[in-house]
Amino acid sequence: MKHLNKTILDVIGNTPIIKINKLAKHVSSDIYVKLEFMNPGGSIKDRLGYVMCKKAVERGQLKPGGIIIEATSGNTGVGISMFAAIHGYKAVFVMADKQSQEKINNLKAFGAEVITCPTNVAPEDPRSYYSVAALMAKEIPNSVFMNQYDNKDNFACHYEWTGPEIFEQTRGEFDVYCAGVGTGGTISGTGTYLKEKIKGLKVVGVDIEGSILAHYHKTKEVIEGHGYVLEGIGEDFLPDNVKFDVIDEFVMVKDEESFQMTRRMLKEEGIYAGGSCGAALLGAIRYAETLKTPKRILTVLPDSGNRYAGRIYNDQWMREKGYQVNTDTKTQDLIQKILKNAGVKL
Ligand SMILES: Cc1ncc(COP(=O)(O)O)c(C=O)c1O
Repeated sequence: MKHLNKTILDVIGNTPIIKINKLAKHVSSDIYVKLEFMNPGGSIKDRLGYVMCKKAVERGQLKPGGIIIEATSGNTGVGISMFAAIHGYKAVFVMADKQSQEKINNLKAFGAEVITCPTNVAPEDPRSYYSVAALMAKEIPNSVFMNQYDNKDNFACHYEWTGPEIFEQTRGEFDVYCAGVGTGGTISGTGTYLKEKIKGLKVVGVDIEGSILAHYHKTKEVIEGHGYVLEGIGEDFLPDNVKFDVIDEFVMVKDEESFQMTRRMLKEEGIYAGGSCGAALLGAIRYAETLKTPKRILTVLPDSGNRYAGRIYNDQWMREKGYQVNTDTKTQDLIQKILKNAGVKL
């Protein structure tokens, strides 16, 4: 059995790429998606957690019995937790309180400590999740703050791993690389590598209304961000890992339309993905709609839908947020009629 993988960490990566069919029927370009939710921990951040921890161990920063600290919207926490479980580290995660309960529960299930902080405070506020994470790192002995926003290993993870993997899988046969931007690691690392390999490749970022990233890219002006519901992409500050010169242009999306696309992706393509995946796909489709000649567009779907079962995929939550829910009552009406006619009371 020596040929088998040794741990869960060995099966991170090598995620499949598939074509989008129905949802891209109205554009002449082809849209492909890389299913990063097929990583064992359910997101692209499995790669990041693994790489940041491994490099911290190699550099001697993370020592036996050490405590890993991270500010996370949840997914990076899972990636780190898998590494921590295998190698025996404790983890402390600091999250904004807008993150789904599923994400918080997942991290606690790994045995991590989770601190939730108010979402709608400025990044420099001592209560913000960035500030609290930095405070923990300063005060907890033998701890390492991974800081995915500014940690160079984030860029390196995607430059050295995700980028080459995509190039190998596609043989470089595509014209546009499109990704949502949060810490910026994915688009910057992967985009830099792919631009070195594919002549004329365009890199398109997807940003969410309320975030400051696309506006900064266009104007070099730092504005104040305002709240949005979508988890994973957009920022209210400029992380070091967003390499603005690698990104050719941004496409903007909004909360509700991203969630509707996420739900349609499941109903029409059978892809159970998270909200930032709907945003990324919507961004790719929107970009395709502007093209005069057909192109091959590849986008990344960062995480799994099961983290959002109680939110995006929950009609009640959607209605409470004021979002439209289209329910097809025809089959339900038929079922009720059959049961009634047969006198079956359930
Ligand atoms: C669900 C989700 N989508 C997208 C992203 C953005 O990726 P990156 O941080 O590499 O820019 C993140 C990052 O936290 C995420 O959690």
